[in-house]
Amino acid sequence: MPKKMWGTRFPKKTNSLTDEFTSSIAFDKRLAEYDVLGSIAHAKMLGRQKIIPLKDAALITKGLNSILKDVLANKFKFDLQAEDVHSNIQDALSKKIGKVAHKLHTARSRNDQIALDVKMYLREEIKNLNLEIKNLQASILKFAKNNAQAIIPGYTHLQPAQCLLLAHHLLAYIECLERDKERLFDAQKRLDMPLGACAFSGTGLAIDRKFVMKELGFKNLTQNSVDSVSDRDYVIEVLANLSILSVHLSRMAEDLILWATKEFNFIDIDFSFCTGSSIMPHKKNPDVLELIRGSTGQIQGNLLNVLTLMKGLPYAYNRDMQLDKPALFDALDTVGNMLKIFKELFANIAIKKEAIALKLTDESLFCVDIVEYLIKKGLSYREAHDIVGRMVKASLDKKEKISNLSAQELKKYSLKLGLDVKNILDARASVNLKISYGSTNPKLVSQQLVKWKKRLNARI
Ligand code: ARG
Repeated sequence: MPKKMWGTRFPKKTNSLTDEFTSSIAFDKRLAEYDVLGSIAHAKMLGRQKIIPLKDAALITKGLNSILKDVLANKFKFDLQAEDVHSNIQDALSKKIGKVAHKLHTARSRNDQIALDVKMYLREEIKNLNLEIKNLQASILKFAKNNAQAIIPGYTHLQPAQCLLLAHHLLAYIECLERDKERLFDAQKRLDMPLGACAFSGTGLAIDRKFVMKELGFKNLTQNSVDSVSDRDYVIEVLANLSILSVHLSRMAEDLILWATKEFNFIDIDFSFCTGSSIMPHKKNPDVLELIRGSTGQIQGNLLNVLTLMKGLPYAYNRDMQLDKPALFDALDTVGNMLKIFKELFANIAIKKEAIALKLTDESLFCVDIVEYLIKKGLSYREAHDIVGRMVKASLDKKEKISNLSAQELKKYSLKLGLDVKNILDARASVNLKISYGSTNPKLVSQQLVKWKKRLNARI
């Protein structure tokens, strides 16, 4: 058992169950790189401020740099008996440079240290995640561009509604993913540098927090030492952002699952992203998409986990807060995996043009276009809606297509209805009729495709 960072006042050893129960090394070891980087900046500052001799600071920094090398090369040997990542690095340093290592923890506590480590880790993770989101957006954009002319029936309430360019539907995904990226970047803005708060009240030693802030690439200092070690809102914020992102991914997965059914038959998902059944030889199941959808529950559970963990805690630090990390790490890992596989899956979807074309012969998809045709001829929205409602009812009752009605039959519904109405009973005409900004009009959609290609700097 390595020596603890505390315990002189303890008249006896801690129970081994206590050691096991309180240990966090199993999960916080992934913070080692940031723990060492933070320690290097801290040691330099202690030397500059003459809180410890410059030569000691230099020795500590040298020792930490060699530990950093090991950590980055995955060669650092974590001692699972040592309580946490902080004590692991501290022990390793003591072994390397001897007693002088004990000066490192001057004017610092593990309370401000862990806040620093997690914030540095999050800065990096957010950067990586945003890259993964961008890659997914580029993959969706490519799929949209390859099928730029394709029209599908659009649905509301999962009932056929109106015609839509497939690319327009896919661009909706790209838009919401962009907001997800922005939300994550936004969370980064509030990651201020906490080191120097020490346990919670600051220190009587003449530290220079600004120096450490600059060394570690932070823009701002936290302003209150109690707040610096008490809060985990930055963890909750990222988890909330990941939850929203995962809801988006889940809904996209659901769309594709539906579209891949025999009932819809809009798309074919490549075999390399499907699985089979052990009993039903004919099955080709969209399990990857189902697991993307299912993992969303896990992310939301992690958010709720930390919200509940924090809600009753008194200020300042409480050990409960250690448990924010398994939830945070799990959410980051899971979302990262969801994004990676989704990107690949999108690159391997084929659309089924003939099956879709058959669905587009459903004339009810053009009802809104007929309503707007009548409005353009001077009828009120209400009158037009009623007229088209009667036409739909009659065509359903008599199993008769509107496109087969004669000029006279059309006039029975409204004198404003001419034979030219039949020109708009067509998917291409329908999308062309839309002119409002942000609509599914093909020219506007192709402008959006160009805009996103530039914005994502995508090679498509
Ligand atoms: N491992 C703790 C955490 O993750 C940090 C250590 C603070 N421990 C303490 N006994 N004050 O929050």
